[in-house]
Amino acid sequence: MPTLSVFGAQWGDEGKGKIIDRLAVDADLVVRYQGGPNAGHTVVVGDVTYVLHLIPSGILHPEKLNVVGNGVAVDPSVMLEEIDGLVERGVAVGPENLVLSSRAHVIFTHHRQLDGLSELWRGEGRIGTTGRGIGPCYSDKTARTGLRVGDLLDADTCRSRLTAALAEKNALITRVHGGEGIDPVVEIESALAIGERLRPYVSDTGAIVRQAAQDGRKILFEGAQGAMLDIDHGTYPYVTSSNTGVAGIGSGVGFPPSRIDLSIGIAKAYCTRVGEGPFPSEAEGEVAERIREIGHEFGSTTGRPRRCGWFDALAIRYALELNGADGLVITNLDVLSHLDEIPVATAYIMGGERVTTYPAGAADLVSLQPEYTVRPGWGTDITGVRHFDDLPEAAQDYVRWIEEEIRCPIKMISIGPERDQVIERGLKPFA
Ligand code: GDP
Ligand code: IMO
Ligand code: MG
Repeated sequence: MPTLSVFGAQWGDEGKGKIIDRLAVDADLVVRYQGGPNAGHTVVVGDVTYVLHLIPSGILHPEKLNVVGNGVAVDPSVMLEEIDGLVERGVAVGPENLVLSSRAHVIFTHHRQLDGLSELWRGEGRIGTTGRGIGPCYSDKTARTGLRVGDLLDADTCRSRLTAALAEKNALITRVHGGEGIDPVVEIESALAIGERLRPYVSDTGAIVRQAAQDGRKILFEGAQGAMLDIDHGTYPYVTSSNTGVAGIGSGVGFPPSRIDLSIGIAKAYCTRVGEGPFPSEAEGEVAERIREIGHEFGSTTGRPRRCGWFDALAIRYALELNGADGLVITNLDVLSHLDEIPVATAYIMGGERVTTYPAGAADLVSLQPEYTVRPGWGTDITGVRHFDDLPEAAQDYVRWIEEEIRCPIKMISIGPERDQVIERGLKPFA
């Protein structure tokens, strides 16, 4: 099985970074295909915590090629800061293990600024974005007014395209939003300087990944965000601006979808969401507070407290179906150890009717009532367990019962943030 897609099956922050870092041991390439610095993928190695935003989560393994594909929205200053931060901590990062697509779209100052200004404009209807310029950058991509990484490497192209873009964006910022305009001269000079620093990393990444597949090398595609934040299939408009799962790989890498061999979802044993929008199985009060505290549920990118709630079997089934998942990895099972009873959403009551499939509209999701099945807790620390049979009976039952509910095998269980805190259940994608 040489190509594997790993995607978030909830609203992001499922623990993708940790699992991808682990699976990367057996891979040759780790490839990001969408999202941008809105992502925060955490990898804990001993007492060092790495939070990766744009650089793939394979970077901590020497000898792996990390690819930032054309579908990623790249903020060059974040990328350079990330490279510098890793190098400072002794991680080898250079053009031999990191490549960046010349076709990836660039996030500029005006994108970040407009992200914030649009949120203000939306008022009560705000999305609660990460403020990283994601929506405005992808909007410009589809409007065909954006600049790509390759444009930063050619002074004439960069000058003319950025001048044209800023003429329009400055009018929007100053006249519509009453904000402060951006000096084109300063912005262009800074873009060109940053382009020079990035130049050694820039290449035709699609060609590299396709060739690697032809050579039988093992490729791991790293999703950012999660299925419920997908621009088309998530809880629109409370979503991000890209296709967050397997569907994003074809366009976001330039890789034939027919060549993706295996697809694995990641989900927490409960559920979290950052930002606004429907969250049917959201918990409240002290119960939510306790999960947030024990699971350290604060955004890896923004530090915002994550909304916490229960595993939603309908949402997960939907995410797995959308992505043709062959298996699921369950993370943060340890965080549930303090509970006597664990609710799981197994149906929704909508307009007096009981439904067991995920509804399409955000409006439907606001008005429904989840129906919970309550499972017994296990009440003991499981962070030291490494074999499924050594888990308390109730924890084994919880996993097996979820497996039946979602009709998909649970291929790995994570019981702590550290690299070795996993229980393997036969996930050997590259064997
Ligand atoms: P990602 O965006 O999907 O990569 O997830 P984040 O890194 O944003 O958030 C996941 C958080 O949970 C991080 O702080 C991880 O270190 C932590 N984490 C991952 N797996 C586990 C686990 O099994 N148990 C616990 N307690 N924490 C975990
Ligand atoms: P990872 O890869 C969790 C959320 C934001 C907001 C919405 C739109 O770490 O799982 P955006 O800045 O993308 O325009 O914000 O999407 N969001 C995430 N939530 N994890 C993420 O990434 C997220 N990336 C974006 O909170 O609700
Ligand atoms: Mg995250």
